[in-house]
Amino acid sequence: MKALILAGGAGTRLRPITHTSAKQLVPVANKPILFYGIEAMVSAGITEIGVIVGDTRDEVMAALGDGSQWGATITFIPQDAPLGLAHCVLIASDFLGDDDFVMYLGDNLLEQDLAAFVHAFESQRGSFDPPAAQILLKRVPDPHRFGIAELDAEGNVVRLVEKPADPPTDLALVGVYLFDRTINDAVRAIAPSPRGELEITDAIQWLVDQGRRVRQEELTGWWIDTGKLTPLLEANRLLLEKIETRVDGEVDETSVLDGRVVVEAGANIVNSTLRGPLVIGAGTVIENSFVGPFSAIGNDCRVTHSEIEHSVVMESSTITDIPRLEDSLIGKDVVVTRTQVRPRALRLMVGDHCQIDVE
Ligand code: TTP
Repeated sequence: MKALILAGGAGTRLRPITHTSAKQLVPVANKPILFYGIEAMVSAGITEIGVIVGDTRDEVMAALGDGSQWGATITFIPQDAPLGLAHCVLIASDFLGDDDFVMYLGDNLLEQDLAAFVHAFESQRGSFDPPAAQILLKRVPDPHRFGIAELDAEGNVVRLVEKPADPPTDLALVGVYLFDRTINDAVRAIAPSPRGELEITDAIQWLVDQGRRVRQEELTGWWIDTGKLTPLLEANRLLLEKIETRVDGEVDETSVLDGRVVVEAGANIVNSTLRGPLVIGAGTVIENSFVGPFSAIGNDCRVTHSEIEHSVVMESSTITDIPRLEDSLIGKDVVVTRTQVRPRALRLMVGDHCQIDVE
Protein backbone atom coordinates (compact mmCIF):
# COMPACT_ATOMS: atom_id res chain seq x y z
CA MET A 1 0.00 0.00 0.00
CA LYS A 2 1.32 3.42 -1.02
CA ALA A 3 0.08 6.93 -0.29
CA LEU A 4 -0.47 9.80 -2.72
CA ILE A 5 -0.74 13.14 -0.94
CA LEU A 6 -1.97 16.11 -2.95
CA ALA A 7 -0.11 19.30 -2.10
CA GLY A 8 -0.35 21.26 -5.36
CA GLY A 9 -3.43 23.26 -6.28
CA ALA A 10 -4.03 26.98 -6.47
CA GLY A 11 -5.15 27.82 -2.95
CA THR A 12 -7.25 30.75 -4.18
CA ARG A 13 -9.50 30.71 -1.13
CA LEU A 14 -6.69 31.39 1.32
CA ARG A 15 -5.24 34.40 -0.44
CA PRO A 16 -3.30 36.51 0.44
CA ILE A 17 -1.48 33.91 2.56
CA THR A 18 -1.18 31.59 -0.45
CA HIS A 19 0.34 34.26 -2.71
CA THR A 20 3.63 33.51 -1.02
CA SER A 21 3.11 30.19 0.80
CA ALA A 22 1.62 26.76 0.21
CA LYS A 23 -1.76 26.45 1.88
CA GLN A 24 -0.82 22.97 3.06
CA LEU A 25 2.05 24.48 5.07
CA VAL A 26 -0.05 26.95 7.04
CA PRO A 27 0.41 25.85 10.65
CA VAL A 28 -2.42 24.74 12.91
CA ALA A 29 -1.51 24.36 16.56
CA ASN A 30 1.99 25.37 15.34
CA LYS A 31 2.44 22.40 12.96
CA PRO A 32 1.99 22.57 9.17
CA ILE A 33 -1.32 21.03 8.08
CA LEU A 34 0.51 18.72 5.66
CA PHE A 35 2.52 17.13 8.47
CA TYR A 36 -0.69 15.80 10.05
CA GLY A 37 -1.45 14.00 6.77
CA ILE A 38 2.04 12.47 6.56
CA GLU A 39 1.76 11.36 10.19
CA ALA A 40 -1.66 9.83 9.53
CA MET A 41 -0.20 7.77 6.66
CA VAL A 42 2.82 6.63 8.65
CA SER A 43 0.71 5.65 11.65
CA ALA A 44 -1.49 3.59 9.29
CA GLY A 45 1.71 1.72 8.34
CA ILE A 46 2.25 3.42 4.95
CA THR A 47 5.75 4.74 4.40
CA GLU A 48 6.05 4.92 0.59
CA ILE A 49 4.56 8.34 -0.03
CA GLY A 50 4.20 10.29 -3.27
CA VAL A 51 3.51 14.01 -2.93
CA ILE A 52 1.98 16.04 -5.77
CA VAL A 53 3.51 19.52 -5.84
CA GLY A 54 2.59 22.60 -7.87
CA ASP A 55 3.73 26.23 -7.93
CA THR A 56 4.78 26.07 -4.28
CA ARG A 57 6.94 22.97 -4.85
CA ASP A 58 10.19 24.50 -3.50
CA GLU A 59 8.63 25.31 -0.16
CA VAL A 60 6.80 21.97 0.16
CA MET A 61 9.91 19.99 -0.79
CA ALA A 62 12.05 21.92 1.68
CA ALA A 63 9.53 21.33 4.48
CA LEU A 64 9.13 17.58 3.88
CA GLY A 65 12.68 16.67 2.84
CA ASP A 66 13.10 13.00 1.97
CA GLY A 67 10.55 11.94 4.59
CA SER A 68 13.14 10.38 6.89
CA GLN A 69 11.99 12.56 9.79
CA TRP A 70 8.86 10.35 9.78
CA GLY A 71 10.64 7.14 8.81
CA ALA A 72 9.02 7.45 5.36
CA THR A 73 10.32 7.74 1.78
CA ILE A 74 8.87 10.66 -0.15
CA THR A 75 8.76 10.93 -3.95
CA PHE A 76 7.79 14.35 -5.29
CA ILE A 77 5.62 14.44 -8.40
CA PRO A 78 5.39 17.87 -10.06
CA GLN A 79 2.08 19.00 -11.55
CA ASP A 80 2.33 21.91 -14.01
CA ALA A 81 -1.21 23.16 -13.38
CA PRO A 82 -3.99 22.15 -10.98
CA LEU A 83 -5.94 20.10 -13.51
CA GLY A 84 -7.92 18.11 -10.97
CA LEU A 85 -7.66 15.37 -8.37
CA ALA A 86 -7.95 12.61 -10.98
CA HIS A 87 -5.19 14.32 -12.98
CA CYS A 88 -2.95 13.80 -9.95
CA VAL A 89 -3.54 10.03 -10.19
CA LEU A 90 -2.79 10.18 -13.91
CA ILE A 91 0.59 11.86 -13.50
CA ALA A 92 1.53 9.63 -10.54
CA SER A 93 1.25 6.39 -12.56
CA ASP A 94 5.00 5.65 -12.55
CA PHE A 95 5.14 6.07 -8.80
CA LEU A 96 1.94 4.08 -8.17
CA GLY A 97 2.64 1.16 -10.50
CA ASP A 98 0.03 -1.56 -9.89
CA ASP A 99 -0.13 -0.99 -6.14
CA ASP A 100 -3.12 -0.13 -3.99
CA PHE A 101 -2.91 3.35 -2.54
CA VAL A 102 -4.50 5.91 -0.26
CA MET A 103 -5.11 9.30 -1.85
CA TYR A 104 -5.10 12.07 0.72
CA LEU A 105 -5.87 15.76 0.13
CA GLY A 106 -3.02 17.65 1.73
CA ASP A 107 -5.19 20.43 3.14
CA ASN A 108 -7.60 18.09 4.93
CA LEU A 109 -7.45 17.28 8.63
CA LEU A 110 -9.16 14.32 10.28
CA GLU A 111 -9.53 13.41 13.90
CA GLN A 112 -9.93 9.71 13.17
CA ASP A 113 -6.99 7.36 12.88
CA LEU A 114 -6.89 5.85 9.38
CA ALA A 115 -5.38 2.44 10.21
CA ALA A 116 -8.80 0.74 10.57
CA PHE A 117 -10.02 2.32 7.31
CA VAL A 118 -6.97 1.03 5.44
CA HIS A 119 -7.18 -2.39 7.10
CA ALA A 120 -10.87 -2.77 6.12
CA PHE A 121 -9.94 -2.32 2.44
CA GLU A 122 -6.94 -4.65 2.57
CA SER A 123 -8.88 -7.39 4.36
CA GLN A 124 -11.40 -7.53 1.49
CA ARG A 125 -8.82 -7.76 -1.27
CA GLY A 126 -8.99 -11.55 -1.47
CA SER A 127 -12.80 -11.71 -1.25
CA PHE A 128 -15.18 -12.85 -3.99
CA ASP A 129 -16.07 -9.27 -4.99
CA PRO A 130 -13.18 -7.09 -3.82
CA PRO A 131 -13.80 -3.35 -3.81
CA ALA A 132 -11.93 -1.26 -6.40
CA ALA A 133 -12.25 1.79 -4.19
CA GLN A 134 -13.23 2.82 -0.73
CA ILE A 135 -14.37 6.28 0.24
CA LEU A 136 -14.90 8.00 3.54
CA LEU A 137 -18.15 9.91 4.07
CA LYS A 138 -19.30 12.49 6.59
CA ARG A 139 -22.81 13.82 7.11
CA VAL A 140 -22.83 17.58 6.54
CA PRO A 141 -25.52 20.25 7.01
CA ASP A 142 -24.72 21.91 3.64
CA PRO A 143 -24.32 19.06 1.11
CA HIS A 144 -24.64 21.33 -1.94
CA ARG A 145 -21.07 22.51 -1.23
CA PHE A 146 -19.49 19.03 -1.47
CA GLY A 147 -19.10 15.90 -3.56
CA ILE A 148 -22.06 13.76 -2.40
CA ALA A 149 -22.56 9.97 -2.42
CA GLU A 150 -25.72 7.95 -2.93
CA LEU A 151 -25.76 4.38 -1.53
CA ASP A 152 -27.70 1.18 -2.27
CA ALA A 153 -29.40 -1.00 0.36
CA GLU A 154 -26.13 -2.87 1.04
CA GLY A 155 -24.32 0.40 1.66
CA ASN A 156 -22.29 0.33 -1.56
CA VAL A 157 -21.85 3.53 -3.54
CA VAL A 158 -24.10 3.80 -6.60
CA ARG A 159 -23.74 7.45 -7.57
CA LEU A 160 -21.49 10.41 -6.88
CA VAL A 161 -22.43 13.99 -7.63
CA GLU A 162 -20.23 17.05 -7.36
CA LYS A 163 -21.80 20.04 -5.53
CA PRO A 164 -25.44 19.14 -6.44
CA ALA A 165 -28.08 21.90 -6.45
CA ASP A 166 -30.56 19.32 -5.11
CA PRO A 167 -28.46 16.92 -2.97
CA PRO A 168 -29.77 13.33 -2.90
CA THR A 169 -28.12 12.69 0.52
CA ASP A 170 -26.13 14.59 3.11
CA LEU A 171 -23.12 12.24 2.80
CA ALA A 172 -20.10 14.30 1.74
CA LEU A 173 -16.86 12.79 0.42
CA VAL A 174 -14.01 13.33 2.84
CA GLY A 175 -10.57 13.93 1.28
CA VAL A 176 -9.28 10.38 1.83
CA TYR A 177 -9.77 7.63 -0.76
CA LEU A 178 -8.47 4.10 -1.23
CA PHE A 179 -7.96 2.66 -4.69
CA ASP A 180 -6.71 -0.46 -6.40
CA ARG A 181 -4.99 -0.31 -9.79
CA THR A 182 -8.30 -0.03 -11.70
CA ILE A 183 -8.42 3.70 -10.91
CA ASN A 184 -5.55 4.14 -13.40
CA ASP A 185 -7.92 3.03 -16.18
CA ALA A 186 -10.69 5.24 -14.78
CA VAL A 187 -8.63 8.45 -14.85
CA ARG A 188 -7.68 7.72 -18.48
CA ALA A 189 -11.30 7.04 -19.48
CA ILE A 190 -12.95 10.22 -18.17
CA ALA A 191 -13.09 13.66 -19.80
CA PRO A 192 -12.54 17.01 -18.06
CA SER A 193 -15.58 18.47 -16.30
CA PRO A 194 -17.18 21.82 -17.25
CA ARG A 195 -14.70 23.53 -14.88
CA GLY A 196 -11.86 21.99 -16.90
CA GLU A 197 -10.64 19.51 -14.27
CA LEU A 198 -10.37 15.73 -14.26
CA GLU A 199 -12.70 15.02 -11.33
CA ILE A 200 -12.05 12.13 -8.96
CA THR A 201 -15.83 11.80 -8.47
CA ASP A 202 -16.16 11.11 -12.24
CA ALA A 203 -13.37 8.51 -12.03
CA ILE A 204 -15.06 6.74 -9.10
CA GLN A 205 -18.40 6.92 -10.92
CA TRP A 206 -16.67 5.24 -13.88
CA LEU A 207 -15.67 2.36 -11.57
CA VAL A 208 -19.29 2.00 -10.42
CA ASP A 209 -20.51 2.09 -14.03
CA GLN A 210 -18.04 -0.70 -14.91
CA GLY A 211 -19.70 -2.85 -12.25
CA ARG A 212 -16.87 -2.51 -9.76
CA ARG A 213 -17.72 -2.32 -6.07
CA VAL A 214 -17.05 0.96 -4.24
CA ARG A 215 -17.14 0.59 -0.46
CA GLN A 216 -17.79 3.43 1.91
CA GLU A 217 -17.38 4.10 5.58
CA GLU A 218 -18.82 6.89 7.62
CA LEU A 219 -16.29 8.99 9.48
CA THR A 220 -16.80 9.17 13.22
CA GLY A 221 -14.55 12.05 14.30
CA TRP A 222 -14.32 15.57 12.95
CA TRP A 223 -13.06 16.41 9.47
CA ILE A 224 -11.98 19.83 8.26
CA ASP A 225 -11.09 20.99 4.78
CA THR A 226 -8.80 23.79 5.89
CA GLY A 227 -8.75 25.64 2.57
CA LYS A 228 -10.57 28.69 3.97
CA LEU A 229 -10.06 30.97 6.97
CA THR A 230 -12.99 29.94 9.20
CA PRO A 231 -12.36 26.17 8.94
CA LEU A 232 -8.64 26.77 9.42
CA LEU A 233 -9.25 28.57 12.70
CA GLU A 234 -11.72 25.83 13.64
CA ALA A 235 -9.06 23.15 12.98
CA ASN A 236 -6.63 25.15 15.10
CA ARG A 237 -9.22 25.19 17.90
CA LEU A 238 -9.95 21.44 17.68
CA LEU A 239 -6.26 20.50 17.74
CA LEU A 240 -5.48 22.86 20.61
CA GLU A 241 -8.32 21.18 22.56
CA LYS A 242 -6.06 18.12 22.76
CA ILE A 243 -2.81 19.66 23.96
CA GLU A 244 -1.28 19.02 27.37
CA THR A 245 0.54 21.67 29.37
CA ARG A 246 4.30 21.83 28.75
CA VAL A 247 6.43 24.82 29.68
CA ASP A 248 9.98 24.61 28.32
CA GLY A 249 10.51 28.37 27.92
CA GLU A 250 10.95 31.11 30.52
CA VAL A 251 7.99 32.56 32.41
CA ASP A 252 8.67 35.45 34.80
CA GLU A 253 7.07 35.82 38.23
CA THR A 254 4.61 38.50 37.20
CA SER A 255 3.08 36.35 34.46
CA VAL A 256 0.04 34.11 34.92
CA LEU A 257 -0.53 30.81 33.11
CA ASP A 258 -4.07 29.53 33.14
CA GLY A 259 -5.46 26.37 31.49
CA ARG A 260 -3.46 24.10 29.14
CA VAL A 261 -0.53 26.01 27.76
CA VAL A 262 2.53 25.01 25.72
CA VAL A 263 5.51 27.37 25.90
CA GLU A 264 8.33 26.07 23.71
CA ALA A 265 12.01 26.23 24.63
CA GLY A 266 13.57 29.65 24.18
CA ALA A 267 10.23 31.48 24.45
CA ASN A 268 10.04 34.25 27.02
CA ILE A 269 6.83 35.31 28.80
CA VAL A 270 7.16 38.64 30.58
CA ASN A 271 4.44 40.28 32.70
CA SER A 272 1.70 38.61 30.65
CA THR A 273 -1.30 36.34 31.01
CA LEU A 274 -1.62 33.19 28.91
CA ARG A 275 -5.05 31.58 29.04
CA GLY A 276 -5.05 28.21 27.28
CA PRO A 277 -5.48 26.15 25.37
CA LEU A 278 -2.72 27.78 23.36
CA VAL A 279 0.82 27.32 22.07
CA ILE A 280 3.71 29.77 22.05
CA GLY A 281 6.52 28.88 19.63
CA ALA A 282 10.26 28.67 20.29
CA GLY A 283 12.09 31.98 20.59
CA THR A 284 8.89 34.03 20.87
CA VAL A 285 8.65 36.90 23.34
CA ILE A 286 5.29 37.82 24.90
CA GLU A 287 5.52 41.01 26.93
CA ASN A 288 2.84 42.99 28.81
CA SER A 289 0.19 41.11 26.86
CA PHE A 290 -2.76 38.75 27.11
CA VAL A 291 -2.88 35.68 24.86
CA GLY A 292 -6.25 33.96 25.10
CA PRO A 293 -7.77 30.57 24.26
CA PHE A 294 -7.22 28.90 20.87
CA SER A 295 -4.23 30.98 19.87
CA ALA A 296 -1.17 29.51 18.15
CA ILE A 297 1.77 31.91 18.05
CA GLY A 298 4.61 30.63 15.84
CA ASN A 299 8.37 30.68 16.43
CA ASP A 300 10.36 33.90 16.82
CA CYS A 301 7.37 36.24 17.15
CA ARG A 302 7.11 39.28 19.39
CA VAL A 303 3.84 40.28 21.03
CA THR A 304 3.99 43.49 23.08
CA HIS A 305 1.19 45.44 24.83
CA SER A 306 -1.44 43.47 22.93
CA GLU A 307 -4.33 41.05 23.34
CA ILE A 308 -4.71 38.08 21.01
CA GLU A 309 -7.41 35.42 20.99
CA HIS A 310 -8.56 32.61 18.66
CA SER A 311 -5.88 33.38 16.09
CA VAL A 312 -2.96 31.86 14.22
CA VAL A 313 0.17 34.00 14.03
CA MET A 314 2.90 32.55 11.82
CA GLU A 315 6.62 32.75 12.50
CA SER A 316 8.70 35.91 12.89
CA SER A 317 5.74 38.30 13.14
CA THR A 318 5.45 41.26 15.49
CA ILE A 319 2.24 42.49 17.12
CA THR A 320 2.60 45.73 19.05
CA ASP A 321 0.03 47.90 20.90
CA ILE A 322 -3.01 46.10 19.51
CA PRO A 323 -5.81 46.18 22.11
CA ARG A 324 -7.52 43.15 20.66
CA LEU A 325 -6.74 40.83 17.75
CA GLU A 326 -9.22 37.98 17.27
CA ASP A 327 -10.27 35.33 14.71
CA SER A 328 -7.21 36.27 12.66
CA LEU A 329 -4.61 34.59 10.48
CA ILE A 330 -1.34 36.50 10.35
CA GLY A 331 1.33 35.37 7.85
CA LYS A 332 5.09 35.19 8.34
CA ASP A 333 7.27 38.26 8.98
CA VAL A 334 4.24 40.52 9.43
CA VAL A 335 4.31 43.69 11.52
CA VAL A 336 0.98 44.80 13.03
CA THR A 337 1.24 47.97 15.05
CA ARG A 338 -0.76 51.04 16.00
CA THR A 339 0.16 54.66 16.26
CA GLN A 340 -2.94 56.14 17.96
CA VAL A 341 -4.75 55.05 21.08
CA ARG A 342 -8.18 53.91 19.97
CA PRO A 343 -9.16 50.59 21.52
CA ARG A 344 -11.10 48.28 19.25
CA ALA A 345 -10.95 44.72 18.08
CA LEU A 346 -9.22 43.80 14.83
CA ARG A 347 -9.97 40.83 12.60
CA LEU A 348 -7.23 40.34 10.06
CA MET A 349 -6.04 37.94 7.42
CA VAL A 350 -2.60 39.20 6.49
CA GLY A 351 -0.19 37.68 3.95
CA ASP A 352 3.53 37.24 4.54
CA HIS A 353 5.96 40.18 4.84
CA CYS A 354 3.26 42.86 5.35
CA GLN A 355 3.27 45.83 7.61
CA ILE A 356 -0.05 47.08 9.05
CA ASP A 357 -0.20 50.38 10.95
CA VAL A 358 -3.58 50.87 12.58
CA GLU A 359 -4.39 54.54 13.09
P1 TTP B 1 -8.78 21.95 -3.67
O1 TTP B 1 -8.93 22.68 -2.36
O2 TTP B 1 -9.97 21.30 -4.22
O3 TTP B 1 -8.19 22.92 -4.79
P2 TTP B 1 -7.19 24.17 -4.76
O4 TTP B 1 -5.95 23.92 -3.99
O5 TTP B 1 -6.97 24.54 -6.19
O6 TTP B 1 -7.95 25.30 -3.90
P3 TTP B 1 -8.73 26.65 -4.20
O7 TTP B 1 -10.12 26.23 -4.55
O8 TTP B 1 -8.64 27.40 -2.88
O9 TTP B 1 -8.02 27.39 -5.30
O10 TTP B 1 -7.62 20.87 -3.56
C1 TTP B 1 -7.57 19.90 -2.57
C2 TTP B 1 -6.12 19.48 -2.35
O11 TTP B 1 -5.58 18.88 -3.51
C3 TTP B 1 -5.20 20.62 -2.02
O12 TTP B 1 -4.21 20.17 -1.10
C4 TTP B 1 -4.56 20.98 -3.35
C5 TTP B 1 -4.49 19.63 -4.03
N1 TTP B 1 -4.62 19.67 -5.49
C6 TTP B 1 -3.55 19.26 -6.29
O13 TTP B 1 -2.49 18.90 -5.78
N2 TTP B 1 -3.71 19.28 -7.65
C7 TTP B 1 -4.89 19.66 -8.25
O14 TTP B 1 -4.98 19.62 -9.49
C8 TTP B 1 -5.99 20.07 -7.40
C9 TTP B 1 -7.29 20.50 -8.00
C10 TTP B 1 -5.80 20.06 -6.04
